Amino acid sequence: MGDAGVTAHGCKVIAMGHYEETYRRWQQDPEAFWLGLAGGVEWEQEPEAALEASEAPIYRWYPDGHLNMCFNLLDRHVRDGRADQTALIYDSPVTGQARTYTYRELLDETARVAGAFARLGVERGDRVVIYMPMVPEALLAMMACARLGAIHSVVFGGFAANELASRIEDCRPKLIVSASCGIEPARIVEYGPLLNRALEIVGGDPPRCVILQRPQHETVLVDGRDVTWEEALDGVQAAGCVTVRATDPLYILYTSGTTGVPKGIVRDTGGYAVALRWSMQAIYGAEPGDVYWAASDIGWVVGHSYILYGPLLQGCTTVLYEGKPVGTPDAGAFWRVCAEHGVDVLFTAPTAIRAIKRDDPGAEHVRGHDLSRLRTLFLAGERCDPDTLEWAERSLGRPVIDHWWQTETGWPIVANCVGLERLPVQRGSATKAVPGYDVRVLDEHGSQAPAGEIGALCVKLPLPPGCSPTLWGGDDRWVDAYLSRYDGYYLTADAGYIDDDGYVYVMSRTDDVINTAGHRLSTGAIEEVLAAHPDVAECAVVGIADDLKGQVPMGLAVLKAGVERERSQIAGELVARVRDEIGPVASFKEVRIVKALPKTRSGKILRGTIRKMADGEEWRIPATIEDVTVLDDLRHVLADMGRAPSAATGA
Ligand code: COA
Ligand code: AMP
Repeated sequence: MGDAGVTAHGCKVIAMGHYEETYRRWQQDPEAFWLGLAGGVEWEQEPEAALEASEAPIYRWYPDGHLNMCFNLLDRHVRDGRADQTALIYDSPVTGQARTYTYRELLDETARVAGAFARLGVERGDRVVIYMPMVPEALLAMMACARLGAIHSVVFGGFAANELASRIEDCRPKLIVSASCGIEPARIVEYGPLLNRALEIVGGDPPRCVILQRPQHETVLVDGRDVTWEEALDGVQAAGCVTVRATDPLYILYTSGTTGVPKGIVRDTGGYAVALRWSMQAIYGAEPGDVYWAASDIGWVVGHSYILYGPLLQGCTTVLYEGKPVGTPDAGAFWRVCAEHGVDVLFTAPTAIRAIKRDDPGAEHVRGHDLSRLRTLFLAGERCDPDTLEWAERSLGRPVIDHWWQTETGWPIVANCVGLERLPVQRGSATKAVPGYDVRVLDEHGSQAPAGEIGALCVKLPLPPGCSPTLWGGDDRWVDAYLSRYDGYYLTADAGYIDDDGYVYVMSRTDDVINTAGHRLSTGAIEEVLAAHPDVAECAVVGIADDLKGQVPMGLAVLKAGVERERSQIAGELVARVRDEIGPVASFKEVRIVKALPKTRSGKILRGTIRKMADGEEWRIPATIEDVTVLDDLRHVLADMGRAPSAATGA
């Protein structure tokens, strides 16, 4: 177990074993466990130490290891006999295109793109912002950065200019790589004006920009700032791999916190490579040569870990899908892709399955496709309702595995590790802690909660390799946000419980973060946008249940005294502001003007009560409420929205 063997192609593989045995082996000697698994990666200088703990609670994995990530994604496989294997399948129903790249082709292209970035001045440690749709050039750009030892920061295409600006401001890129447009089923998303606006907000001298012109809409270039993708690559020399320390950052990925300021999650290079390679085998049961498809977006952590890095580290074929689960053209799209490309392992968000189920409840489309290669469907990104899980199991006749993780961890915390041993599924549970994670439920005093009791889901430090070691912009912020609540533990900000058999149930967030269609949003950030409207005195945003998207944000706003304008007009302006400032991905469509917000006597807005009323859940009138009549007003507003607000129990 954990020993590295060598395949016919000379590629190291890691032996597997049963779940309990593997978990125990990790528990007995975590450092030996992770040092053993380091053999899954090819190093320029092999690490002799697993963990650097001298600056605890900040931990670093493989402190003396040196490697290059891109070498492990591409060069190694080309050298070891995978040159002609398909590495990447680009399938784009929105443009009617499909393209494949072998490992050799992907290596040649990536080395040229790296050469182009180097010619534009990008060096080891520089940041490169990538604001692109789901096109192969986005992956080429990410790998080119990794080749040069530069740090990429991908920004999701559904974010608006302000969000892009705050990321540019925080990480100060040497280069921005973008495209002329993204393609949503109903519209073309022009990236040019968004990029220009973001750079205007940031101010100062803009960095150089490489723009991929797409035929669906070409953008006007800015003289002296922009070059096209073709110009950037013209006559360029291929670049080699730059060796970096295992602890050097590979990327920064911004995610929503409780405020409008996104957190820059830092990912190191060596620990991430080791953890992802192992996870491909141990969690997903994906072998080299398998076709692995994560139907997500490269702007999210799932896209980073399981569209790009995990599958290519493992020598799989990865699928990049530029389309939707429904509407491109129908609810059979996922099954068409699985059949056409022989997908062995599929990973998506529950919301995608809900969308398919809504349009094709009888799963007629499944029957029309040959899914004989599909072994397992994995779901993550939000809590999976048992109905959706059962529907997928029944329709596909395959195991459907719910698993839990976060941008911060970069790979799963709790899963059914089918590559080790498939455990019985317990409805509503993401199964058990993955070896490497010591998951505990703590009560408000920091004591361990008894089995079955809900509390704060925490992970005992140190987090395993691959998890964020810190935040961009400082260890203090990392410690403050995640490590200070409970000494010696990482706070996941999820609430849940663990049953007598060690099954983990993730129930809800404990902060102001909500998951909308598998996208992580900060209700605090939306509140900041509403509060900035000149007519708004105060506001509250909560996530309310939605059949398709899991949760959607709903806003309540109180107007300043004397504002006489039409309420519906103000509400429309608030919706438009959120779309302009955060982006369409916020799915913010519902805001109501109310006389007052329910608050405690000390002025705290009772967001939990608002959400429970809106979702028709049980709730009690808080003893500390300032004015109980506000709740009547709220009940009318919710009823008017078509919700069925619940009455207080005991009222
Ligand atoms: N660029 C620009 N705009 C985008 C975008 C992108 N990359 N992605 C989404 N948007 C826009 C959509 O066009 C939509 O705009 P609209 O308000 O004009 O209609 C808005 O953002 C909301 O998008 P979404 O939440 O995706 O809703 P939808 O109704 O378009 O689609 C689903 C619903 C369920 C089909 C879709 O959410 C989905 O595929 N979800 C899976 C999510 C996923 O994979 N998450 C990753 C975690 S694993
Ligand atoms: P993100 O960082 O965008 O991946 O979002 C992470 C958050 O999504 C977690 O903190 C959870 O709140 C939620 N989440 C992810 N996977 C699951 C799951 N399987 N069950 C419940 N919640 C999940």
